[in-house]
Amino acid sequence: MGRLKLGVLISGRGSNLQALIDAAADAAYPAEIALVVSNVAGVMGLQRAEKAGIATAVVDHKAFDGRQSFEDALHETLSAAGVELVCLAGFMRLLTDGFVGRWHDKLINIHPSLLPAFKGLDVQQRAIDAGARFSGCTVHFVRPAMDAGPIIAQAVVPIHGDDTDASLSARILEQEHKLFPLAVRLIAEGRARVIDERVVIDDAVAPATAMINPSD
Ligand code: GRF
Repeated sequence: MGRLKLGVLISGRGSNLQALIDAAADAAYPAEIALVVSNVAGVMGLQRAEKAGIATAVVDHKAFDGRQSFEDALHETLSAAGVELVCLAGFMRLLTDGFVGRWHDKLINIHPSLLPAFKGLDVQQRAIDAGARFSGCTVHFVRPAMDAGPIIAQAVVPIHGDDTDASLSARILEQEHKLFPLAVRLIAEGRARVIDERVVIDDAVAPATAMINPSD
């Protein structure tokens, strides 16, 4: 059986894209990147893809007269490349119900908070400002509402008393780079299934212990 064909949508830095590139470099990984699409030309993520010999496309939202035609072009580009799973990796455009519906359970996103807490933007600073003791990241199937949808996997990190937006973001990002390839693998292996809008993972092992912060 062939590897699951990914389409990765980016808008910038592409460090999560890089994590997927690195994972897929192993022939035993059950997914491969068929195409990287950016809505912004010249971004670092596109350079990462080119360096890895992966096909790229720029679908610039500003070149279209509305969301519908932009998303039609996006859909056509992904379909033409044979994409089977679309991965949003720092893609900074909201997608309409139409696009999300066409890729139902074939569209995932990574978000730097423990959803459903802290949806939207600036979430690391908002977690600090709220005095939360833990934050983390979430990979989920996309539904029409922003940062909503069945959760596939999460990672938790502590928030330190002296954390800044930058230090917390870096701590979360390190986990994002492990979590995204893990979530894609679960899907590619057919182990992550959506049942009644919750993801059931076959043979899932949850951590055995609780965490307390501060720890003493
Ligand atoms: C990540 O923090 C991701 O969770 C969020 O946007 C950021 C993208 O970073 N959706 P990068 O482009 O993958 O480096």
